[in-house]
Amino acid sequence: MSTTTEQAQERAPRPRKGEAVEVSFDALAFGGAAVGRREGFVVFTKYAAPGDRATVRVHRAKKNYGEGELVEVLHPAPERIAPVCPLFTKCGGCSWQHLPIETQRTWKERIVRDSLRAIPGYESIAVHPLIASPDTWRYRNKMEFTFARWPNGRLVAGFHRPDNWREILDVENCWLAPEPMERILRAAVEEGVRQNLTAWNPKSHEGTLRQLVIRHSVADDGFLALILTGDRAIDFNEFADALLRVEPRLKGVSWGLNAAQSDVARASDILESRGLTVLEEKLGDHTFRVSLASFFQTNSRGAVKLYEVAREALELTGRERLLDAYCGTGTIGIFCANAAKEVYGIELVQDAVHDARENAACNGLQNTMFMPGDMRVTLPAMMNSIEGRIDRLVVDPPRGGMERKALDQLLALRAPRIAYVSCNPTTMARDLVPAIEAGYTVEWITPVDMFPQTYHVECVAKLTLKQ
Ligand SMILES: C[S@@+](CC[C@H](N)C(=O)[O-])C[C@H]1O[C@@H](n2cnc3c(N)ncnc32)[C@H](O)[C@@H]1O
Repeated sequence: MSTTTEQAQERAPRPRKGEAVEVSFDALAFGGAAVGRREGFVVFTKYAAPGDRATVRVHRAKKNYGEGELVEVLHPAPERIAPVCPLFTKCGGCSWQHLPIETQRTWKERIVRDSLRAIPGYESIAVHPLIASPDTWRYRNKMEFTFARWPNGRLVAGFHRPDNWREILDVENCWLAPEPMERILRAAVEEGVRQNLTAWNPKSHEGTLRQLVIRHSVADDGFLALILTGDRAIDFNEFADALLRVEPRLKGVSWGLNAAQSDVARASDILESRGLTVLEEKLGDHTFRVSLASFFQTNSRGAVKLYEVAREALELTGRERLLDAYCGTGTIGIFCANAAKEVYGIELVQDAVHDARENAACNGLQNTMFMPGDMRVTLPAMMNSIEGRIDRLVVDPPRGGMERKALDQLLALRAPRIAYVSCNPTTMARDLVPAIEAGYTVEWITPVDMFPQTYHVECVAKLTLKQ
């Protein structure tokens, strides 16, 4: 906000917490909420749309802005559409499905542009048109559902309610999941009922059915399912039969034990498996082995778009040494490996590094090396062990962006080209400031819509080092 806007905002009458006020909305913000004004006072409200006039109940009123809950749309924005999902506003996902996909894309582009204001001279940075996801619905290749017994005794499986984490919503249809996943989910609940299984109780840490994880490979249209239980009371053979019966594309079912106190859907032990435990996914020319536990971008066809932009930013000629920093399972480095001389990767999670090495081997690549460890420690160690310089750098940090020390270390490599891949335009903008101070020019930024129906947007920034 500029100083004059801030002053005007301070003069605007601040509503009381709990008060219902009429708000006119004119924008969307990163985080998904619509930005509205009531007599000049800014109120952020989820599920409102730019162009709406609505009644909002204020639940937070700070000096400069407030947050509210949408009570009633008095005059809908002309663009508003009916959300397809009955769980809209309840499950917390897909919070932009009341907007047409073109409108979502326009706002994502604007939000990326606005985030750049943190950068001195941001007006000269070219923001390319957003690249659309090939699929706007049913694009997720991995879903996790949690089981619960409702107080009325009904067994359900679905998502945690964001406003009440302990409550599980009954999800029969999810518009982000490929349809076979819905069939597998329903069969799992029916089989749980048939076997009269209990659901995990997060308070007492007892119970059988806990989570169902389903994965999809777009390349071969196969699926894998993992049933996670808190104890061994399940008849796994019958459970697997029930799932395999409803979906011929289901290539394997596994059973894992998960009695951990945290809600993470991870097996401490895989007890039994029927059929496959790994799927093969293709991104561009490369094949990736994706197990139920491995990290993989959740929109496979969208990931190809993102990686193509990153590869373009790197301007590889086949002679360069590329460092893939925060490499996960090595997908970006491997995607670029045929266009580079050597690829190095650094990643904190040891299992991801294991998968990266396997993926490189399964593509017959001989020019890759992946190292596990924290960037701040592993980068100096890696640079000591290899001779020469890094010519190209791709960074894809977590949502919080880069830790300052790691950023400084990476900038000190003075790679002539950097592709900064980010899922958070605000932390990306913050990290680009030191890069510019270190002598880099931000040539362009391309937003990529990997997550239609949500506010999330990925970006690739191309940086070149000034001579
Ligand atoms: C956004 S993901 C990158 C995913 C990968 N590039 C891909 O496209 O599949 C960020 C990765 O950074 C890793 N990470 C987080 N902090 C790290 C650190 N301090 N040092 C090294 N890796 C880190 C995470 O484990 C995660 O795999």
